[in-house]
Amino acid sequence: NREPLSLYQAFQGQFKIGAAVSTATLRSSGDFIAKHYNSITAENQMKFEHVQPQEGLYTFEAADAIFDFAASHGIAVRGHTLVWHNQTPDWVFEGPDGGPASKELLLSRLKAHIHTVVGRYKGRVYAWDVVNEAIEDKQDLVMRNTKWLELIGEDYLRHAFQMAHEADPKALLFYNDYNEITPVKRDKIYNLVRSLLNQDVPIHGIGMQAHWSIYGPPLEEIKQAIELYASLGVQLHITEMDLSMFVHEDTRTDLLAPTEQMLELQQQRYEDIFRLLRSYSDVLTSVTFWGAADDHTWLDQFPVRGRKNWPLLFQEDHTPKPAYWRLIEKS
Ligand code: G3I
Repeated sequence: NREPLSLYQAFQGQFKIGAAVSTATLRSSGDFIAKHYNSITAENQMKFEHVQPQEGLYTFEAADAIFDFAASHGIAVRGHTLVWHNQTPDWVFEGPDGGPASKELLLSRLKAHIHTVVGRYKGRVYAWDVVNEAIEDKQDLVMRNTKWLELIGEDYLRHAFQMAHEADPKALLFYNDYNEITPVKRDKIYNLVRSLLNQDVPIHGIGMQAHWSIYGPPLEEIKQAIELYASLGVQLHITEMDLSMFVHEDTRTDLLAPTEQMLELQQQRYEDIFRLLRSYSDVLTSVTFWGAADDHTWLDQFPVRGRKNWPLLFQEDHTPKPAYWRLIEKS
């Protein structure tokens, strides 16, 4: 029954410790979140469909509330996300005649969106995920086939970073992706960011989402990915970390609590991973969990609805899990 220490304070001087939040979780768990995290990211409420559901109609109430919470508690904000194939309304890609938007029209919409959103929060976002998940997972393709790519061409990335830089020259601009450890995708991410840097595109970091599990990926591969990305001279952030209790293919929905063995593995994995991350704290400056505690995690809906998961450091009632104590003791 020890009183838990603040998680972020345990990592002070190494990296920020963040959590994905919503106006709902800030309302129900604000004190808990402010105690343990010194960075927050909107899990959904700053995505395109939330801030500009119709052309020119911007809805910032939820995002503003998240910034107000951050300001009143001295918490930093990571911006997520400006350009993505998901959670972007259909109108963005449609032309006036109902067919696809022209390249010029889509670029002008991109500019309006980025300038309005990044401009509104100028000076209040330390890092933006400018482009999210633009790379294809399968071996035979490099770029993910999205409407952005189809209608603008690969140049959409360069434009997006330049527009974000114009709107907030001091914000750090990130490319963010998952499966960032697997050798095939890792090399594609590296090549993409290297090519943007070679074109003098203002890109300052790579976001490693870190949707991992208690079974993998192997520590050695995480290390290799960090070293490869860091060799580009950019900063690294862990942006969406969680350690699922299941392998992806396991879709059982009958487990009501994690087993002792799962909790054991999870605490060992968290300990090992954070030992590694701490050894890179000169380039790795922020570690965000994709949720604050196990009562609210996207993994409860994915890959099947109703398979309860326990991927974070705190239980549903916000009391610390064994993995939390491991990190506090070893930090
Ligand atoms: O808000 C609506 C609600 O009104 C509606 O009744 C309900 C019915 O399904 O849906 C609710 O919206 C859901 C939304 O989350 C808010 O909870 C969407 O269906 C659901 O698809 C959406 O999922 C989000 C997902 O991105 C969408 O792709 C997750 O919460 C969010 O955690 C997840 O985050 C992504 C990152 O942005 C990028 N990297 C991967 C990560 C995990 O998928």
